Amino acid sequence: MNAKQKVIIDCDPGIDDALALMLALSSPELDVLGITVVCGNVPAKTGVENALRILKWMGRLDIPVYSGETKPLERPYEDATETHGGTGLGNLRYPTVTEVRPREGAVEFLASSLSEAAKTGDLISIIAIGPMTNLARLAELHPECFAGLNRLVSMGGNYHSHGNCSPVAEYNYWCDPHAARAVFEAFETLPALAEKEIQMIGLDVTRQIVLTPNLRDYLCRLNPWIGALVRDMTDFYMDFHWQQEGLIGCVINDPLAVAYFLDPDLCRGFSAYTTVETEGLCIGQSVVDAEHFWKKAPNCHILTEADPLGFMVLFFSRLLKKDPLELRPMLARLMGGIVK
Ligand code: BDR
Ligand code: CA
Repeated sequence: MNAKQKVIIDCDPGIDDALALMLALSSPELDVLGITVVCGNVPAKTGVENALRILKWMGRLDIPVYSGETKPLERPYEDATETHGGTGLGNLRYPTVTEVRPREGAVEFLASSLSEAAKTGDLISIIAIGPMTNLARLAELHPECFAGLNRLVSMGGNYHSHGNCSPVAEYNYWCDPHAARAVFEAFETLPALAEKEIQMIGLDVTRQIVLTPNLRDYLCRLNPWIGALVRDMTDFYMDFHWQQEGLIGCVINDPLAVAYFLDPDLCRGFSAYTTVETEGLCIGQSVVDAEHFWKKAPNCHILTEADPLGFMVLFFSRLLKKDPLELRPMLARLMGGIVK
């Protein structure tokens, strides 16, 4: 059997972060070394409590949770509680976890884990599903530790799809554009990252991943306990999507980053030099030089096409611990596909 893949999940939970964590924690091929939290959807002090709640549901309080940066590098902090609810988990009310408490020092945890990985050669991947402030600090303070990095999958940005915070900008990059730019620049300039590219799961692909009420009902039928957690969190998210976009259902961005990490065949894209605008009207926009105007080496792999049914089969089968082949026909039917 292959060894498990070591990952650290950098997040801002967040409804879709919660779903992403649930997927990661249900996936036996992952060894989740820790969860680092950054300010984003909710302040970091709220995010760490939510991360612990999710670990408790999943019976994984052995995984440490680290609190990270509490404000963006330069911009005033703006949360996304209008999207995720005041607690960050929609309408879900779940008690504070007291058995274990969050630790301080997300950036130091990332640095020491990656530095150790660089020494042993047992590399670690990062799945980043919040603003990139922790990672930018890591690049600033401990650039050498990136020798221990395997993959960086980043949920953020957009290529042809419109923004969700402005006509052109996606929330994670918009919330801290200087951090996002710094991380993209690290993949341009740091020798340890010369051969690597950020794997950008942006809105082009995540908008294809819609949890509809039908799909959610199916989840509830198959497992009322998990179904209720997902329903209680996503009710608020579905209301937001209806009011904001006229969508019946909700776009679940962050779980696609985990799913793509697990199965790279779920998305397709191309490589190009990419940076992030830090000022003006287009602040936070990911700028992808697909036409190679700037003659710079690619630092990013931009995912543009997704397999929504493949994603849902993976997501449901992992959360429910069921055979994907058993779930596929009903999921295809509920997603409007042809049942073969
Ligand atoms: C991203 O922003 C956050 O609100 C979500 O959790 C996701 O990471 C989508 O733009
Ligand atoms: Ca997030």
